[in-house]
Amino acid sequence: MLISWWYLYLGAQSIYRQVVNMASVLQKLITPLFSGPAEPPRNKVTVVGVGQVGMACAVSILLRELADELALVDVMEDKLKGEMMDLQHGSLFLKTPKIVSGKDYSVTTNSRIVVVTAGVRQQEGESRLNLVQRNVNIFKHIIPQIVRYSPNCVLIVVSNPVDILTYVTWKLSGLPKHRVIGSGTNLDSARFRYLMAERLGIHPTSFNGWILGEHGDSSVPVWSGANVAGVNLQKLNPDIGKDSDRENWKETHKMVVDSAYEVIRLKGYTNWAIGLSVADLTESLIKNMYRVHPVSTMVKGMYGISDEVYLSLPCVLNSSGVSSVVNMTLTQDEVSQLKKSADMLWNIQKNLKDL
Ligand SMILES: NC(=O)c1ccc[n+]([C@@H]2O[C@H](COP(=O)([O-])OP(=O)(O)OC[C@H]3O[C@@H](n4cnc5c(N)ncnc54)[C@H](O)[C@@H]3O)[C@@H](O)[C@H]2O)c1
Repeated sequence: MLISWWYLYLGAQSIYRQVVNMASVLQKLITPLFSGPAEPPRNKVTVVGVGQVGMACAVSILLRELADELALVDVMEDKLKGEMMDLQHGSLFLKTPKIVSGKDYSVTTNSRIVVVTAGVRQQEGESRLNLVQRNVNIFKHIIPQIVRYSPNCVLIVVSNPVDILTYVTWKLSGLPKHRVIGSGTNLDSARFRYLMAERLGIHPTSFNGWILGEHGDSSVPVWSGANVAGVNLQKLNPDIGKDSDRENWKETHKMVVDSAYEVIRLKGYTNWAIGLSVADLTESLIKNMYRVHPVSTMVKGMYGISDEVYLSLPCVLNSSGVSSVVNMTLTQDEVSQLKKSADMLWNIQKNLKDL
């Protein structure tokens, strides 16, 4: 009797050992305390379009540690998967624990910020405005899908012509105007500040200057406000920015306008500066910073502009998007340049169909 109990005991021991051995490394290593679904992401960022600009935006956002999840979308499936895997392999060096991608917009669910960089880019010598109809057709597919999966997101439009496509996005999305932003002259202003600061021998953050209006050929440099440490440059040289200026500061703005064409001629596209500038906007939005940036917003009713156009003005960005616009004390000439940009954009927009 005693012997059979002994055999029973040994049998039970062996079954126990087998069960323990069958447990996976994971089961042996980790004791779960909670197995319900994880909380949804709080700071998810989606980048649509994984071309040169999209990937520069994605990397800049990752390196600034702004997102707890990054989603990538494109129509080129192999390229999309390759870019996702390449970034995932860098996870050891990043603080964004989840990087996903897909052609299907369900991967973008719950995004706080969506950056749209999809579409065709300028060829050498081609103007941004020339891209309009091709990119409008692409946006008709993209924008409703974004809003379907992230109805509370803030959209940053980067694709060109950015001011017109921001208007198109606003129309297609049905979102309130403060949640649809164009990267606008944020890049032009960064180029201006770099070039002016170089000429003055100081860092770009210490030269305060704004380029407003259209991102592109008709952008408006606000010479009346250019200053260093509060010292207004126009007071030092009343001709600054004018044709009559013997120092030819106007040339700096011309270099800003020409710079995209020059970089495209040299390397085929522009991407790093726009990527860095989009990450800066993303930071103001995600961190509710109330920083002021020159970005494209709906300007109807401002400076005597009566059409629904998006143009860049100094905008206060917080977690809701554009919370307010700074009313700059522009000169008559600067206001008429803004109106000219608005008229030119409206003349193109009014012919766009099915918005
Ligand atoms: N606003 C700015 O300051 C600024 C600066 C530089 C470039 N851009 C613009 O950014 C855009 C992208 O430039 P790029 O150099 O990255 O071009 P790119 O050709 O390298 O990439 C574009 C990407 O968009 C994708 N795409 C096309 N149709 C799509 C769709 N329906 N859905 C999802 N993805 C789609 C393509 O597959 C491609 O990967 C261009 O319009 C360019 O002019 C804007």
